[in-house]
Amino acid sequence: MTNQKRRIMVTSALPYANGSLHLGHMVEFIQTDIFVRYQRLRGHELYYVGADDAHGTPIMLRAEKEGLSPAALIDKVRAEHQQDLAQFLISFDHFHSTHSEENRVLCADIYEKLQGNGYIFKKSVEQFYDPAKQMFLPDRYVKGQCPRCHAPDQYGDNCEVCSATYSPRDLIQPYSVLTGETPIVRESEHIFFDLPQFSDFLQNWLATAPVQESMRNKLGEWFKTGLSAWDISRDAPYWGFEIPGEPQKYFYVWLDAPVGYFASLKALFDQRGADIGPFLRPDGGTEMYHFIGKDIAYFHLLFWPAMLQGAGYRTPSGVFCHGFLTVDGQRMSKSRGTFIKASTYLRQLRPEYLRYYFANKLSARVEDIDLNLGDFKARINSDLVGKYVNLASRAFPFISKHFNGQLADRLDDDSLHQQILAKKELIAGHYENREYHLAMREIMALVDRANEYIDAHKPWLKIKEENNDVQAVCTVLINAFHQLTIYLQPVLPAIAAAVAELLNRPALAWADLERPLLGCAIKPYKALLQRIEDKDLDAILAATREDLARENAGTAPKPEVPLIGIDDFAKLDIRVARVLSCEKVEGSDKLLRFQLDVGELGTRQVFSGIQQFHRPEELQGQLVIYLANLTPRKMRFGVSEGMILSASNAETLQVLLGVGRAAAGMKVS
Ligand code: 2FM
Ligand code: ZN
Repeated sequence: MTNQKRRIMVTSALPYANGSLHLGHMVEFIQTDIFVRYQRLRGHELYYVGADDAHGTPIMLRAEKEGLSPAALIDKVRAEHQQDLAQFLISFDHFHSTHSEENRVLCADIYEKLQGNGYIFKKSVEQFYDPAKQMFLPDRYVKGQCPRCHAPDQYGDNCEVCSATYSPRDLIQPYSVLTGETPIVRESEHIFFDLPQFSDFLQNWLATAPVQESMRNKLGEWFKTGLSAWDISRDAPYWGFEIPGEPQKYFYVWLDAPVGYFASLKALFDQRGADIGPFLRPDGGTEMYHFIGKDIAYFHLLFWPAMLQGAGYRTPSGVFCHGFLTVDGQRMSKSRGTFIKASTYLRQLRPEYLRYYFANKLSARVEDIDLNLGDFKARINSDLVGKYVNLASRAFPFISKHFNGQLADRLDDDSLHQQILAKKELIAGHYENREYHLAMREIMALVDRANEYIDAHKPWLKIKEENNDVQAVCTVLINAFHQLTIYLQPVLPAIAAAVAELLNRPALAWADLERPLLGCAIKPYKALLQRIEDKDLDAILAATREDLARENAGTAPKPEVPLIGIDDFAKLDIRVARVLSCEKVEGSDKLLRFQLDVGELGTRQVFSGIQQFHRPEELQGQLVIYLANLTPRKMRFGVSEGMILSASNAETLQVLLGVGRAAAGMKVS
């Protein structure tokens, strides 16, 4: 492993600024943060930058729905995101927004350079347009029948029933998700980035760039299909940056999102008065790594490097993809109650539990990782509490209580120290290669060695003997614990800080792996970590169900109910009526003909279009609720005198029936 100081920029994908972070996001932030903290521990100059992805149609519409300006919405969400990230101990050097001046300037620069270098062209595009909302509709905002299997209500880009992919124009009976209107086809000039010109560059870049083998294969498939030019403009109304020199045209959100990585670094460097140049230039001698989910590989492995190359910027040194999070073996799902928000988890449990659990599952492969709650509890309680923290809780109190808080002057037996030290390069390599699960396995095997040392020396028995060697034994143990904590620091940073405090050290350093702590004072032990209890997990699941219920209540459309006065209501003469007869009307598949006994009002005939919901015999003899003073209406089959009241929604209808002491002719009020 080289000891040369590296200059590294690291990013996690930018979360959208229209929703809360959930545990799926945390897989990536934790994966990145472990890498970042490891590199810092090795003394490299590292900048971990992130931002909220703040542009695009969904954010514009979400703001509208919440009655906020988009700027107010993204500020609100960013504050929430930053709080969750800080509590999960994600150590960003800066967390910015893509809706920032730095990003506007960088996007304009990249675009103008691409234009100057001949990679931008315009083409007329036909697209669905919602005439009521007066906007072009992104694919996900058009629904209709699948052109292949005719399933209703399918999105404009693919069918969830038969998996067909198509364009919104292929949908049968398309409608706008926003207004329900039938969209019209409208033409507009769009701006394109000419990706096919980068075919050779990309093939070469991918052959050498550090990307995972499975992603290299995936890209091979994309090359076979052929690259197409990329539409980077959207027409107003759109929430984003207006394209320089193109009024009413905006950069598509995916154009300015990755530029946001640089914008965040720029904001940080401006604050510090540093020069970002070496991180933007191809020859700057710096490294840039992106951690992303496999679903956005296309953007980061094709569009992004091509854009950068075309504009004369540096390209990524590595793009690391991870899989999705499953909970108890299934994709996170709101309806199953497993869509756990980061803040919901944090209200109940410390972040380290999840950081350690994910570290045990994370590798350099693009595999989904599963959070099994039973396994989660068992692993934390066994590894972290039962084995790792156990070392400290056994050894520290003896030193405090019996040896005046002083460690021995020498390591009587340095074999445990040497065993732990011997794994330094191996563990470092696992962190560097993002094989965290292997690093955890090695570290836990060493924790087991240290526990064996306790069992072999039994300080709790020896302490009863005169002239015992308990100070020496506990000094060996505390030194082992110190080394193990240095190894675990990227995963358990707050615990490492608490351990540094107990050991009277300003911080834990990689170089200290080799330097035993001898003859120095330690502080009295304070518990480092509690066990996870079933009630903690139950509380998280219960709170998740409540989150969902609250969300559903908040998103249900609120129908507008125009108000009437009591005088208006008093005008209605509503009565109980007995159904004397009820029959289908010949020649109509909708109407039922009723003869009603309305007490003092006599007999009335009513036609009602409810044949598909009620068989005539089930209403025969029943008491129904009847509006008596509706102006009679002449129909093809006779005069309808009034109306029978029913309850209905989009799917069903039920005639309201009178009950109890109600009798024909009684007034309803
Ligand atoms: O998929 C997403 O959640 C995007 N907001 C990620 C953007 S990453 C980068 F390109 F900005
Ligand atoms: Zn289909």
